[in-house]
Amino acid sequence: MTKILPADLKNIYLASEMIKKGKIVAFPTETVYGLGADAFNPTAVALIFEAKRRPKFDPLIVHISNYKMLELVAKEIPKEIEKLIQIFWPGPLTVVLPKKDEIPALTTAGLQTVAVRMPQHPVALKLISLSDTPIAAPSANPFGKLSPTNAEQVYKGLKDKVDLILDGGPSPIGIESTIIKEENGDIYLLRPGSISIEDIEKIIEKKVRLREIPKIEAPGSFPSHYAPQTPLFLLKGEKLPKEFSKKRIGFLAFSSKPKFAKFQEIRILSKKGDLKEAAKNFFSYLYELDSLNLDLILAEKVPQKGLGLAIMDRLKKASQNKFI
Ligand code: TXA
Ligand code: MG
Repeated sequence: MTKILPADLKNIYLASEMIKKGKIVAFPTETVYGLGADAFNPTAVALIFEAKRRPKFDPLIVHISNYKMLELVAKEIPKEIEKLIQIFWPGPLTVVLPKKDEIPALTTAGLQTVAVRMPQHPVALKLISLSDTPIAAPSANPFGKLSPTNAEQVYKGLKDKVDLILDGGPSPIGIESTIIKEENGDIYLLRPGSISIEDIEKIIEKKVRLREIPKIEAPGSFPSHYAPQTPLFLLKGEKLPKEFSKKRIGFLAFSSKPKFAKFQEIRILSKKGDLKEAAKNFFSYLYELDSLNLDLILAEKVPQKGLGLAIMDRLKKASQNKFI
């Protein structure tokens, strides 16, 4: 039986005791909810893979609450990464670093690197520090599905596969962390996220490099990811082909109602056209549309700058690049 408990100090303490005993616990972060286990306990980490049905070759992010923990997990920290974490930690930046031998191979899926981040959410920070160990945590959803931004979504996705869900309300940012890596003096973007490329470039005073990541290096970038149950398509132009006119369609709009056709349900990510607000609403609105038994979800593109890049990345994967 899964318990959903308010994330007060007593329950965070209870959760930390469970982490210490090798159990898995879902908890809020500022980006999305995570499903956590002691990063140094391979048996506990295995439970995460099992609960999510996540392939064993997809490595986890290790969450820390202080810089001592960083020393426990990473062998060295390149200068520019150091600069970036000083600015953006605690916060939604994940950095890929050479790993310490003590980290079990399962946590990093056999890679010689480890993805690390210090989250900003007070509940996450308290849970890690009370557990007194880095916590490995992917997003708390079944593999390939929508990332959860509240406790109820976690419950619906994982049901009785997790003993405890700490309910800390909706995640304030709503989209996953940005993942970067240093190589030969350059910073590479492995996953666009809530810290924008522009934010990073301001600090390092040079271009962030984008590249088609080899699958083994960021297996999270499978063709179908972040996917609702309902088929999702991206809107190409502003016309609905005839064969769709009888379908029950949910429309995910960026900033205003579509004028070119009528839809069963419409969700507007941000009436102000604010990408931050759009990111916060993104997964929640997809969950809502997904629960309405529609024939399909049609999503409008968002501007591809700042947070918009992260939203578009999720939309492209959720739709498997299928357009209408
Ligand atoms: O915001 C977030 O990052 C959330 C919260 C819970 O912190 N976590 C999250 O974890 O999004 P997950 O597992 O859903 O996505 C982690 C991504 C995966 O695509 C994985 O392949 C990649 O990080 N990753 C993990 N370790 C890596 C490594 N050593 N090198 C390259 N990519 C790595
Ligand atoms: Mg995920």
